[in-house]
Amino acid sequence: MCPLSGGRALSVIQSKGGTGKTTTAMFLATALEENGRTVAVLDMDPQQSATRWARATEDLRFPVVLTSSVRDLNSQLRRYSDLDYLIVDTPPGGSQLIDAAASVASLILVPTGVSPMEIDRTQVTLDALADLDTPVAVVLTNVDRRERLLDEVHAELVGNETAALADVVIPTRASTRRAFGTSPKMTEPWKSLAIELEQAFAED
Ligand SMILES: Nc1ncnc2c1ncn2[C@@H]1O[C@H](COP(=O)(O)OP(=O)(O)O)[C@@H](O)[C@H]1O
Ligand SMILES: [Mg+2]
Repeated sequence: MCPLSGGRALSVIQSKGGTGKTTTAMFLATALEENGRTVAVLDMDPQQSATRWARATEDLRFPVVLTSSVRDLNSQLRRYSDLDYLIVDTPPGGSQLIDAAASVASLILVPTGVSPMEIDRTQVTLDALADLDTPVAVVLTNVDRRERLLDEVHAELVGNETAALADVVIPTRASTRRAFGTSPKMTEPWKSLAIELEQAFAED
């Protein structure tokens, strides 16, 4: 596997709550770690979901570090600069913390489901990120593959000029929903998403 220069921040951002940011951060960190990468999750959400997940898990194979301010973020980036990836989990809404997470990222990942309410917030999120030079990728997650809206939303997002769309769609799975407090068990879509992201980084 090719060596990485280290310290690449991947920020998971979406203004709507409950769209799968923390789940994506924890599963992706696990998938990257299983690919032989060194990873830490920086938890910028005051609700501390990732931190609480890690505290409840005995065999998590990467650190989750509570990161409560912009200053904290900068010091964690220095502290962990020799890791391959830093995955930054963020709260919903808009704030200085989210702006900071966006500005340090090499890639911003925007998880969303396909419901009209989520897609509306995705557009607001993408508009807020549009002025940055940082590449942005939307990932459809927590999706029922039989959902009729999937094709329509997929076509709409593929045509988006400011953000890429991940090829991999993460389906709704009970095992994913129940993963809080456990070390995520890797399944195909998460592994494939990690590979897709690694390829995106390699193309930079
Ligand atoms: N792929 C999935 N399959 C099943 N449940 C999911 C999936 N992704 C997220 N969830 C569930 O959706 C809820 C919100 O996810 P979460 O990661 O906490 O979102 P956010 O961090 O954006 O608020 C949680 O209960 C989580 O377990
Ligand atoms: Mg969260």
